[in-house]
Amino acid sequence: MKIVAINGSHRKGMNTAAMLGLVLEEAARGGAETELVELVDCRIEYCLSCNQCLREPKCSIRDDDMPALAEKMLAADAVILGSPVYFGNVTARLKTFMDRTRWLHMRKNLLEGKLGAALTHAGLRNGGQEMTQMILERFLLSHGFQLVEPREPGRPIYNSAVMGTLFDGLDGDRFRWRKGALEDALAVAMCRALGRNLLRRATTGRERAELP
Ligand SMILES: Cc1cc2nc3c(=O)[nH]c(=O)nc-3n(C[C@H](O)[C@H](O)[C@H](O)COP(=O)(O)O)c2cc1C
Repeated sequence: MKIVAINGSHRKGMNTAAMLGLVLEEAARGGAETELVELVDCRIEYCLSCNQCLREPKCSIRDDDMPALAEKMLAADAVILGSPVYFGNVTARLKTFMDRTRWLHMRKNLLEGKLGAALTHAGLRNGGQEMTQMILERFLLSHGFQLVEPREPGRPIYNSAVMGTLFDGLDGDRFRWRKGALEDALAVAMCRALGRNLLRRATTGRERAELP
């Protein structure tokens, strides 16, 4: 099983990357082949709205990194998108990527049937994670992905989405912050659960007990 994770953060290796890394690490323990793509390393032009993709499954822009990213997704069994919350939304970097996938969707849903998942990270509690998660999930559903959630059989405490937070509480009126996503125990547990669920959903005929 091949899983590609795509990080929409402007900051390489930070909170969102750490969460995606945990999902991939857990899936890799069960034998998945994994790759983390940092969009900050890629050159992605804006969609021109030329509408070529309405006539044929092609994009008129060929000289940036989007064709290679599309190849990675087409070759993968599962795609995980991760975004920091920016004003209750995905980052502009990830949105540019999302818009440029239109050719994979308009004539034929070329990604249809693959497993898809999303996660978010934000500074504040209730900082817009749920809205951002919904935006990512709507995008995945438009492409025909089958959504995979972190909820696991027999573990009812988990939410239906993986959302991390830096806010750790108040000392009087001073904010106390976690140093990073890996200090958010619930987010860590849910990232790992998502990694296991991706494997479960991809693996037919294997018993739960055989999974890590
Ligand atoms: C432009 C901008 C907008 C942001 N908007 C929000 C927001 O609406 N809610 C929130 O809780 N945090 C917000 N944040 C904080 C980030 O979501 C947070 O720092 C996140 O951990 C960054 O992820 P990263 O470490 O992967 O880059 C914003 C940060 C930036 C730079």
